[in-house]
Parts: sequence; structure tokens; C-alpha cells
Amino acid sequence: MTLPGSPHVAYRGGELFVEDCALGRLARRFGTPLYVYSRSAMLAALAGYQRALAGRDHLICYAMKANSNLAVLQIFAQAGCGFDIVSGGELERVLAAGGDAAKVVFSGVGKTRAEMARALEAGVACFNVESESELELLSQVAVQVGRTARISLRVNPDVDPKTHPYISTGLKGNKFGVAHERAVATYRRAATLPGIEVAGIDCHIGSQITETGPYLDALDRVLDLVESVEAHGITLHHLDLGGGLGITYTDEQPPAAEALVKAMLARIDTRGHGHRKIVLEPGRSLVGNAGVLVASVLYLKPGGAKNFCIVDAAMNDLMRPAMYEAWMSIVSCTLRDEPPQTMDVVGPVCESGDWLGRDRHLAVQPGDTVAVLSAGAYGMSMASNYNTRGRAAEVMVSGAQAWLIRDREAPADLFRGEHLLPR
Ligand code: LLP
Repeated sequence: MTLPGSPHVAYRGGELFVEDCALGRLARRFGTPLYVYSRSAMLAALAGYQRALAGRDHLICYAMKANSNLAVLQIFAQAGCGFDIVSGGELERVLAAGGDAAKVVFSGVGKTRAEMARALEAGVACFNVESESELELLSQVAVQVGRTARISLRVNPDVDPKTHPYISTGLKGNKFGVAHERAVATYRRAATLPGIEVAGIDCHIGSQITETGPYLDALDRVLDLVESVEAHGITLHHLDLGGGLGITYTDEQPPAAEALVKAMLARIDTRGHGHRKIVLEPGRSLVGNAGVLVASVLYLKPGGAKNFCIVDAAMNDLMRPAMYEAWMSIVSCTLRDEPPQTMDVVGPVCESGDWLGRDRHLAVQPGDTVAVLSAGAYGMSMASNYNTRGRAAEVMVSGAQAWLIRDREAPADLFRGEHLLPR
């Protein structure tokens, strides 16, 4: 049986493996719910981008919101990546993982004064500025701390990425970026501000994009702007083309990273911009297919309208199905020689929205383990403690080795920092 997603997650003799580790064994060793990641799958995904960019001045900034475990960051830092961050917290993670602040781009619509000051002190490569008022504040803060903030404006190209509305970011009605028609004026203002040095231009149109067309449309709009801005004597050294490349959850067929980036580079060269440094911010496409969420089956609950398979992972562990009605593949870790039944796979949380998969065909019994595939991106990083459920443990696999990279949270961890009232 071939599975959608990564070749590093596959059956061998009826047992599901991540690289050379059987998930059933990992579940017994580390408990469930358990996130398991393949280091080789992450590096293979990165290699696609690296091949396309070889020989060019470039920086791949892993969008760490997709999965910000320190060990994941360490792998990408060691492979030469920078990071796309969206908070002061993410910056501290980069530094704790041994990442280089000089390879960090700082995105996000709501950077605070304190976050700006800390990022300037750490020496981040670039602030992706999302509004005119942010630009003014950033200049003030930079002057105060005696630094210069290198910036690019995140421009909103008004292109439809043809993905879920919650993860589209490049349309006019979105809160992200500076409107295309305001961009030139904002760059001209930036060029006059004392704390600011204009470095480049940035755009990110959405996530889980499965077509090349929207990227090329956005790129054309960005290059038009570059030409207008430079006509005013302001040099843009780099083009940051964001992230957003989709992965296969079921039958999506996104372009390979290498092909997509090559298509973009060809357009950049044709339009005479080949000398510029290229920055990319991929998140999901680097880690999504590399991870699975392993859960134990607690109960089977046959019903009139629906059969339920109640597992020990829930919406707090993996929010994507509840939040976006995302379809994620769910398979048994050990295949049984029994006919599959149709069932909804749900968690223990007290919400009807707490489901991981609907109408799935599974042959499972209580005590079995199942795996939600392609859960390496926006799984653990979006997990919560709802229902006072500790967050799952995380394990990194390389070949036959498995390392615990995050402890399972214990109840005491969950109310650390809370205080009873005085009696
Ligand atoms: N750069 C910026 C400015 C972003 O906002 C994002 C993602 C990325 C890069 C990385 O995009 P990626 O390559 O991962 O598509 N929680 C949602 C996805 C939210 C994406 C937010 N921004 C999900 O689970 O589908």
C-alpha cells in the first residue's frame, strides 16, 4: 500500500515505519499521543529548494511557525538555513537552537516595540514591514537603540492563491502587507527615515498553494513594483518571495519545490532581475510530510448514524481538521487482516468539532495505534492545553535512531504560573 506524502513513512510487512523505526514500538516506548518526525524527510525537502537555488545569492528562511521544536530548528540551522520569525518568542527559539540572527527575517503585522528592540539588538537580517505605522515606529525604536533596521516592505499583490480562505494572505481584503498602490510612496518615506535602511521587497500570498500560476502572477506584480521603486533611486537588493508551497495530504499534486523555484527564477531572469538575492520562507513544504501524529485507539463506539473510533489524540493536539476542515490521512500502525469499517476518528475533548477524520475506513481494535500522516507542519506548533490536556511528546527519527526532542507535558506543567487567591 502506498501512502500519500513522504517516502520516509511507509509500511514494511504490515508495520508502519518512519525511516527504520516502527511506530508501534515508538508508541510503546514514548507513549501516545506522539509526534514523530523524519530527519531525512526534512533534509530531502530542503534539498529541493537548495538544488534550484545553487549558484545564486540566496537565503532559505524556514518559516518556523510550521514547527518550532528546537531540534527541528537545529537541523535547518546546521543545513545553512535562516529563519522567518513572527514573534519575539520565535527569535529566542532560533537563538536557543544555535541559529544565526543575521539570517533571520522578521515578519508579522503586529510587532511590538519590545520585539523590535530585541531583534535589532540580536542583529536580524531584515524586518518585513507590513504597514506605514509599523515603519515609523521601527525607525524610532532603531534610533533609540542606536541601530539601523534593514527593511523590506511586504507588499500585497492582490493575487488569489486558490487555497483555503483562512490561509490566503495576498488578497486585498487580507490584513497582511502594504497595498500595491501604496508601496512606492511607502518606500519613498522609508528612504527618508533615520533608523531605516531599505534592503528588499517581500511578498507571501498564502499557504498550501498547489499551483505555480499564482506564484508567477504575484512575482510579476512584485517585479513591476521593484521597477517603479528603483525609478525613484531606491535600490532593492533582495526579493523575498515568501513561502506557501503545498504538500500532498491526500491527492493534491503541488509542483515540486525545485520545479517551482526554477520557474520563478526563469521569470526573474527573463525580466532582467537575475542579479538580485533571493530569499524564500517555506514552512509546510519543509516539514509537513516529514511528521506523523501517533495515537492509541481507546474505544470503538458503534452508532445508528455513525461509528466512532475514539483515540487519545484530540483537537488540542492537532487543530487543522477542526479549524480548517482539513483532510488528513489516518492509517493503522499495524495492519489487521479484517475488513475495514467506516468510522469517524475523534478525540476525547468535549466539543463536537473535536474530530481528526470523518468517514474513514479502518480495521482497528482498542489498544491499536493509528497515525495521522503529514502532520509535521502546523500540528504541534498549534497545539493547546484545552481540557487541561498536556501537549504530546515529540520524537525525531534518523535511520534506526529515535531521540525524544520534547517531553510530554505533565499536569503540574499545565498550571505552573497560576496562583490561588489569598485565603
Ligand atoms: N511567510 C509568511 C509571512 C507566512 O505568513 C507564512 C505562513 C509562511 C511564510 C509559511 O507558509 P507555508 O510555507 O508554511 O505555507 N495554520 C495553517 C497555515 C498558516 C500559514 C500562516 N503563514 C495550516 O495549518 O494550514
